Amino acid sequence: MGYTGHRPALDVVLDGLRRLEYRGYDSAGVAVLDGDGGLAVERKAGRLANLEARLDEVGRDSLTGGTGMGHTRWATHGAPVDRNSHPHRDTTGRIAVVHNGIIENFAQLRAELEADGIELASDTDSETAAHLVSRIYDGDLAAAVRTVSRRLEGAFTLVVTHADEPDKVVAARRSSPLVVGVGEGETFLASDVAAFIEHTRNAVELGQDQVVVITKDGYEVTDFHGEPVQAKPFEVNWDLSAAEKGGHDYFMLKEIEEQPEALANTLRGHFTDGRIVLDEQRLADQDLRDVDKVFVVACGTAYHSGLVAKYAIEHWTRLPVECELASEFRYRDPVLDRDTLVVAISQSGETADTLEAVRHAREQKARVLAICNTNGAQIPRESDAVLYTHAGPEIGVAATKTFLAQIATNYLVGLALAQARGTKYPDEVAREFHELEAMPAAVQQALGTVGQVRELAHELSDSKAILFLGRHVGFPVALEGALKLKELAYMHAEGFAAGELKHGPIALIEDQLPVVVVMPSPKGRAVLHSKLLSNISEIQARGARTIVIAEEGDDTVKPFADHLIEVPAVPTLLQPLVSSVPLQVLAAEIARSRGYDVDKPRNLAKSVTVE
Ligand code: F6R
Repeated sequence: MGYTGHRPALDVVLDGLRRLEYRGYDSAGVAVLDGDGGLAVERKAGRLANLEARLDEVGRDSLTGGTGMGHTRWATHGAPVDRNSHPHRDTTGRIAVVHNGIIENFAQLRAELEADGIELASDTDSETAAHLVSRIYDGDLAAAVRTVSRRLEGAFTLVVTHADEPDKVVAARRSSPLVVGVGEGETFLASDVAAFIEHTRNAVELGQDQVVVITKDGYEVTDFHGEPVQAKPFEVNWDLSAAEKGGHDYFMLKEIEEQPEALANTLRGHFTDGRIVLDEQRLADQDLRDVDKVFVVACGTAYHSGLVAKYAIEHWTRLPVECELASEFRYRDPVLDRDTLVVAISQSGETADTLEAVRHAREQKARVLAICNTNGAQIPRESDAVLYTHAGPEIGVAATKTFLAQIATNYLVGLALAQARGTKYPDEVAREFHELEAMPAAVQQALGTVGQVRELAHELSDSKAILFLGRHVGFPVALEGALKLKELAYMHAEGFAAGELKHGPIALIEDQLPVVVVMPSPKGRAVLHSKLLSNISEIQARGARTIVIAEEGDDTVKPFADHLIEVPAVPTLLQPLVSSVPLQVLAAEIARSRGYDVDKPRNLAKSVTVE
């Protein structure tokens, strides 16, 4: 958040940060310019309350002035500790920067700054921006920010202040959100409108690759080369609570809609010069070549992402992959040695069952790679290597965008293994990656089903139970659809491998029982498709009400579908990324129709730290 105007900046910024805290609570920090050439910064690891306690301790007198900025952090590069908290300063202490996003070429920029004798004070990618601005600053902060922005690769919103220009705040945006709030004698910058709508409802959304300068009298937008740009103003008509949820009634729907962005962020930077690059993980190619077996261990939704990964990793690497519930894994004496790769998946990185499985695997000398959404959490700390999903904070207790990000990260691991072991040619690895890269757009298209699914949810809200069927990668999707419904709508739900139906579960089918069927593509594995068609006709003949998730244009399925939900055509292994979307919405909207709190289902916690 940034502010300049007639009020004390510190109060406005702290209020704004309170509204934005849901975006990240690893640390918080503020910078205030006193107008006489002074720039004061305070920052603290942990929640905003820690920063406020620190301000009470040191006093707020040094932080007076009408221009300032603040930040709450969701750690990506560098652990969540004080020195990695934003704002970051240059070596003169006169420039302060906050950053949201990931600067992909930061290793190169960091090396360049260090070669210039600049000692960086943090482990973050963000700090490099402060020094880069400082190095070229010659009296025009906006010009310096534009030049630096052209050098940065990746995604960023940068907010920058300079003690020599105390009446303005400069910000740059590429692929990360940034909005301007225009008040009377005051102007705001924030990642979303929730930060300032108690002061003004007049907002301006910045486009790609734009720089904005705010003063108390207004704002000016240019592109990264200084060409003026006409930005589009809009009026915010949400109330405050809706604004925090991006205009939605609950966080989970906001997070479902953020899935294209979460996927893009997770994939960003992992394919360079024709190769998969997993730079955060500390396993050498030789370690990957030595692997002779893979175990995936996880719980709940993360476990389902592992089940999906099993199909891909075995297919690409020809390595045996076992996917196991973490709570079962360590109690059954699994066969592990130093050539076993254990992939531990956990959004929170704190799940006790998964943590104990990691400890057990390491005791047995297996190598452990953590896949985690929370920087610096216990599971990555205790693992040999880590890959982060960059899905951003997930507030809804039910996992959604982190599920898709986990699947994508598992696939990156599979492709890295195939690349190191030579089980796929480089052009095949490249093709698989590019297909993965097309998925944010496909997921965006799948989000087009929200309205239809909402209506269906309303119709199904009185059902006693719903069954879910799938084959191949559609089977874990069915399990995940059922889990979402159980946890949110408190409705009996079960997922089955469609081929298992005739071995027992078909006895459950009765008149009007809703059954969701996740269809494979007719073009991908034709045999799977025709087998599943037979399964649907069997249940339809017994009176089930069939809800079919199928690839658009799949006409063969139409006669069997009482409700048809069409998702875009994508390669078979990637189908879970699109077919999960309507199932997430179905569970959330049935829960809502039944009057339940979608974001905080009963008896559940976001992170389960007991076994
Ligand atoms: C379901 C859900 C849980 C978690 C599980 C593992 O929506 O959120 O099933 O997936 O508790 O949590 P993490 O991934 O934090 O280890």
